[in-house]
Amino acid sequence: MKTQKFYVTTPIYYVNDRPHIGHSYTTVLADVLARYHRLLGDPTFFLTGTDEHGQKVQQAAQKAHITPQEQADQTVVRFQELWRKLNITHDDFIRTTEVRHTRVVQAILQDLYDRGEIYSAEYDGWYCLTCERFFTDKDLADGTCPECRRPVDKIREANYFFRMSRHQDWLIQYIQDHPQFIQPDSRRNETLGFLRNKLNDLCISRPKSRMAWGIELPFDSAYVTYVWFDALVNYISAVGYRSNETLFNKWWPASYHLIGKDILTTHTVYWPTMLQAMGLPQPETVFAHGWWLVGDSKMSKSAGNVVNPMDMVDRFGVDAFRYFLMAEMVLGQDASFTEDAFIRRYNADLANDLGNFLSRTLKMISANTGNRIPASGPDGVDEPVLRAAVLSAAQAMPGAISGMRLDLGLANVAQAVREANRYLEKRQPWTLAKNKDLPALSTVLYHAAEALRIISGLLYPVMPEKMASLRRTLGLPEGDPGISDLTVWGKTIAGTEVGPMQILFPRIEKPEASADVPVKVAPTALATPPVAGPEGLALIEYADFQKVQLRSAKVLSAERIEKADKLLRLQIEVGTETRQIVAGIAQSYTPEQVTGKTVILVANLKPAKIRGVDSQGMLLAASSGGQLRLVTVDGDLPSGAVVK
Ligand code: MSP
Repeated sequence: MKTQKFYVTTPIYYVNDRPHIGHSYTTVLADVLARYHRLLGDPTFFLTGTDEHGQKVQQAAQKAHITPQEQADQTVVRFQELWRKLNITHDDFIRTTEVRHTRVVQAILQDLYDRGEIYSAEYDGWYCLTCERFFTDKDLADGTCPECRRPVDKIREANYFFRMSRHQDWLIQYIQDHPQFIQPDSRRNETLGFLRNKLNDLCISRPKSRMAWGIELPFDSAYVTYVWFDALVNYISAVGYRSNETLFNKWWPASYHLIGKDILTTHTVYWPTMLQAMGLPQPETVFAHGWWLVGDSKMSKSAGNVVNPMDMVDRFGVDAFRYFLMAEMVLGQDASFTEDAFIRRYNADLANDLGNFLSRTLKMISANTGNRIPASGPDGVDEPVLRAAVLSAAQAMPGAISGMRLDLGLANVAQAVREANRYLEKRQPWTLAKNKDLPALSTVLYHAAEALRIISGLLYPVMPEKMASLRRTLGLPEGDPGISDLTVWGKTIAGTEVGPMQILFPRIEKPEASADVPVKVAPTALATPPVAGPEGLALIEYADFQKVQLRSAKVLSAERIEKADKLLRLQIEVGTETRQIVAGIAQSYTPEQVTGKTVILVANLKPAKIRGVDSQGMLLAASSGGQLRLVTVDGDLPSGAVVK
């Protein structure tokens, strides 16, 4: 298999405060990606770290009556502890106060200064203390900082500037020529929009008289380096730029810089122009994810709603938290955290679906086949359906990973688990056991165990502890689940002894006090509106979707309705029931064409009278250019089956 190196980074986090869910999210995402790539056999390097200079850290230190270095030393351990707790497998952790970093920043500054890419000039303008950025009159939003809307200060001082404007045309061209460079596309457009205005040069110094906590400029000891010019360099200083050429050539350019949407400009304008001035290649992709909101509000200390990841891990376990983060956020869009949403997803996907499937399978194996996975007999009608669902989740996973749609990859796995439960319900191994039908029972249990092997392998990078434990129970080898084996059915060896039953995901009973907070995705309090779904659609919760009962139905007969040229009256079979439906499909289907089809019915729609004819439900159809196509099922399925 062809391997490709994979170098992934997180932002380096400010050490002014303790880590929150947003920090955890990016780091877990990077970890999951790194783990998948390692499984693929790709040489992988995963970098994270802390951003320890600048005003924010200096202010936090002042408040705590300690030095900025003490502030950094005390806070960095909180991040390191959390990453340990979250089973983060970074290969390096860089702190910007380390000499290996400061030395490289200074060397770059000197080089750019010598080559005229940095010059000194008088600065006269507005400064935002929080964002540590300068703005001109026209940048301001109603006299406030355009980024954070806080008041700005008027500043006039001599400073050093990086000739960023010089690279504007090149940057626009580069972004246009490399569609993968900034992702998702909405963020790429945002940067291109930003670049429609003339780019200013970037002030890269701070006079020590105002802010002394930074890396001293090598050519003027009265100044320190602007924190972003220092911080961005971590991505190359950590992998040997100007210190270890072999290492640097091995890893640079990065495959992914993962960032939050609020630090897009620094990563897609400042950083690329800095690299260009240094003569270095660009990272392959800067991927900006959305924000975690709490309910529908922005998370903030002042609102007192900051989600503490340590608490979540302590209460619900590390893997459940990792799973929630990865499954819940549609990459690129904002996501909403509430404890209620967490518990709902945990109970539905893990405790009920996966937990049930696992415990039913193991119980049956231990009670009926002497704790050993039996050999399968020939397929019946249900085995191919199960196999298809599980293998399709496995086949879709690499695409979900490379397309940064981990949420979709996990939704496919959840779907396969539901199919696996359906398989057991249909095949009823408990009845087969009672009837002593050992050949049929063996086939079912082998298939269930094999489904578990693949499902646990697919979930392994997201829930490494739980899946390792599940795989041990299944008698599978420790460690690497062998990714190429996950798309192949039949790798489970009959006769393998399984371990004792265990409850991997105990159901969480909702505490009485926990309010049923409605979970919304659309924020109202954010300065930037959320990115909508792929086609600008408002997003719904899974719970909303669950309200709709979809069932397969068989069309028994169909006829036209007089004076209604768009409507057909259908008699459909839904399990043991027959219903009448009025469907607006007469211009796309003749009665003959539709008879005999297995279609999808919205089964719990309130009955209605359409043109005087009773209709008990609605059929799903896709429409394009005036043509309707009924949604049907793939393969043979009896009517009345629940569509999930
Ligand atoms: N130090 C800079 C990054 C320098 S990278 C060369 C910084 N640090 S930060 O600690 O303030 O933020 C780090 C990351 O956390 C950013 O990507 C930011 O988007 C992310 N988040 C902060 N709050 C967040 C949420 N509520 N949700 C998701 N991520 C959010 O910026």
